[in-house]
Amino acid sequence: MNGKLKMAIVGAGIWGENHARIYQAHPFAEPVAICDQNLAKAARLAERLGIAEVYQDYHDMLARSSCDAVAIVTPDFAHADIAVAAAKAGRHLLIEKPLATSRDDVYRIMDAVAQTGVRAMVDLHNRWNPPFNVAHQALDRGDLGDLYSAYFRLNDIKWVATDLLPWAAQSSILWFLGSHSLDTLRWFFGREVRRVYAVSRSGLLKEQGVDTVDLYQSTLEFDGGGIAQMENGWITPNANPCVNDIKCTLLGTRGMISIDASNHNLIQSYTADKVSVPDVLVQHTVFDQPKGFAFESIRCFVDRLLDGRDFPLTLDDAANTSLAILAIMESARTREPVDVQY
Ligand SMILES: NC(=O)c1ccc[n+]([C@@H]2O[C@H](COP(=O)([O-])OP(=O)(O)OC[C@H]3O[C@@H](n4cnc5c(N)ncnc54)[C@H](O)[C@@H]3O)[C@@H](O)[C@H]2O)c1
Repeated sequence: MNGKLKMAIVGAGIWGENHARIYQAHPFAEPVAICDQNLAKAARLAERLGIAEVYQDYHDMLARSSCDAVAIVTPDFAHADIAVAAAKAGRHLLIEKPLATSRDDVYRIMDAVAQTGVRAMVDLHNRWNPPFNVAHQALDRGDLGDLYSAYFRLNDIKWVATDLLPWAAQSSILWFLGSHSLDTLRWFFGREVRRVYAVSRSGLLKEQGVDTVDLYQSTLEFDGGGIAQMENGWITPNANPCVNDIKCTLLGTRGMISIDASNHNLIQSYTADKVSVPDVLVQHTVFDQPKGFAFESIRCFVDRLLDGRDFPLTLDDAANTSLAILAIMESARTREPVDVQY
């Protein structure tokens, strides 16, 4: 690669704009192309950020753009076709989480990447979340002994499903947030999930016209005996001052770590009618520059593509996370334990 890494972005939505801003802020990258099936949306973003190439069809973009890599920032269920086409066109891939939402799509992407030799990372960015990364370092040093059991709760306020994401009914809280918590648990245990036992409840979101599961409670058994409890819901009250409700406890044979990343108390804001906890961890700006761990993961993709080092998570990590989520959904549906099929 000569000069800056040329990034193309497919999906000019909320997170696609974040990608574009991050490439713009990176000293060795630039967003050269933006593609959205809603051409006007892509054109508006391109104009706002000064991106030269605008496309409606990603095939057209892959044929005409000089991009080195493609960021796939389309809805959860719409990653695989674009990833396969981009890999076949020889472009490196940064795919938004989750990798894919069906077994077939997971393997189609894996095969395309293996056959073409492009590099691929999935943006499971909770590994860059400071308290979680620090906890992983403590586990690595052996401070806690062996990880014995874990608890991870990652919920969103209801507004995300009812108002923010037009495609929530075609996805699931397990894809949208469970992919983060499950990937993080796999990373902490350093093992794969072997068997899952899950239950779910539905009804509150359906009443509001969004036909998706309200919440899942999942028990996970890892290879080697580790156990974990994972909660993912899309129905926390909108008045919760944090969009995310994120708590985690790690119990080792010699110690324990407790994380509360939502009520971090670093900053609280009160006005006549509202209490809020402004985001200073995930994505915020400092002197107009994008900051936070959502920036770090995307920056890391650029850095490691340029210097040739391995990404902090492999495509297998992301694939196995999706396959374990499929097992959780099956368990919740059948009310039976399910062995994860890799
Ligand atoms: N890393 C994170 O924590 C994080 C945070 C938010 C969203 N995301 C992920 O990013 C992805 C996008 O989420 P979003 O909130 O930006 O959604 P969004 O609805 O705001 O934007 C998605 C865009 O993709 C476009 N699109 C859909 N199919 C397309 C296609 N085939 N070709 C071109 N454009 C297409 C839509 O028109 C839309 O503009 C999702 O997978 C989501 O889970 C990740």
